[in-house]
Amino acid sequence: MHARKIKPGIEAICCVHWERRLFDSLIPLPDGTSYNAYLVRGEQATALIDTTDPALQGELLEPLASVEKVDYVVSQHSEQDHSGSLPIVLDRYPSATLLCSQKARDMLLSHLQIPAERIRVVADGEQIALGGKTLQFVYTPWVHWPETMCTYLPEDQCLFSCDFFGSHLATTDLFVTDPARVYEAAKRYYAEIMMPFRSIITKNLDKLSVLDFDIIAPSHGPVYDKPDFILDAYRDWTSPNTKNEVVLPYISMHGSTERMVKYLMDALAAQGVSVQAFDLAVTDIGKLAMALVDASTLIVGTPTVHVGAHPAVYYAAHLANLLRPKLKYAAIIGSYGWSSKAIEQIAGLIPNLKVEVLGTVLQKGIPDANTFSQLHELAAAVAKKHKEDPNVLPK
Ligand code: FEO
Repeated sequence: MHARKIKPGIEAICCVHWERRLFDSLIPLPDGTSYNAYLVRGEQATALIDTTDPALQGELLEPLASVEKVDYVVSQHSEQDHSGSLPIVLDRYPSATLLCSQKARDMLLSHLQIPAERIRVVADGEQIALGGKTLQFVYTPWVHWPETMCTYLPEDQCLFSCDFFGSHLATTDLFVTDPARVYEAAKRYYAEIMMPFRSIITKNLDKLSVLDFDIIAPSHGPVYDKPDFILDAYRDWTSPNTKNEVVLPYISMHGSTERMVKYLMDALAAQGVSVQAFDLAVTDIGKLAMALVDASTLIVGTPTVHVGAHPAVYYAAHLANLLRPKLKYAAIIGSYGWSSKAIEQIAGLIPNLKVEVLGTVLQKGIPDANTFSQLHELAAAVAKKHKEDPNVLPK
């Protein structure tokens, strides 16, 4: 896509990947994505902030064809969707200096084999004058890797944030025009990329709060010209508060676990607790990740396969453990034919979740009255915990 003006002297080059459906061979992209690079033209020097995924490097080089000189290329994040076209951009501009954080230097050397003499490390808070525009670098580690940084332009009150505040959303819109759609995509992005680093993201939000900006230009998705929208969302997602909600990923082979899940859902709803259930045979794991952003309780439902948990449930539990959501409570339910270690297995898969286990219910064969009674008690225990916990907010 051609370069588009954000403010005088600041242009976005959005390389929109409409057809991409999977990121990192892991993350579903139902709405595609974009990789945004930004051109900042000062009176004396020009900077290019980030590049694009190598698959779309032609979309970056085409608008750059009319840009004769780039003095600085800023790499805010070393992951290849932003850095992968650095080699070809540095070839196009042989006198350009590559600017990056201290930790990024090693990554750019090892992942992209950038010649060391092309790289200049910038310190946290360091400024580089372009003439009427100043690049000020702000280290913001763990949004998404440890080397990540933002770039602030004080004269234009513009913050370039790379993955931070991004959304996997293919769109022709330069700015946010459909906040509900962008909120959904940004929350999915947060859940899958940022949630494991919630506490340090809170510190990064505090660090950015002293800067005066009216534009946030991320490297995925549209630009925010009303930044409070996404800043408020991040404050909410990273806060210690959760919702009066249970997330219930499950799978069923012959119907026993499903009957338990359906009974438990009804019992929880009767107690005033919302439930988001995900049949792992068909669900989009991104939707599951999003549900985990706000939920108070995780209840896992699994049948037994060869004495163990179903592999799909194993995967979902491992994923939840990696994403480190702010869950407070958990329970495991399931069924088996002759023997099962499923509950011990699932419990062992979620050590990162600092949860209080409220119960386990394991049924041999078809659920009976005793099982339904246990599920009823479990629902009551969840509702009681949610009601008594001051950090669990009503929906
Ligand atoms: Fe968009 Fe972590 O790369």
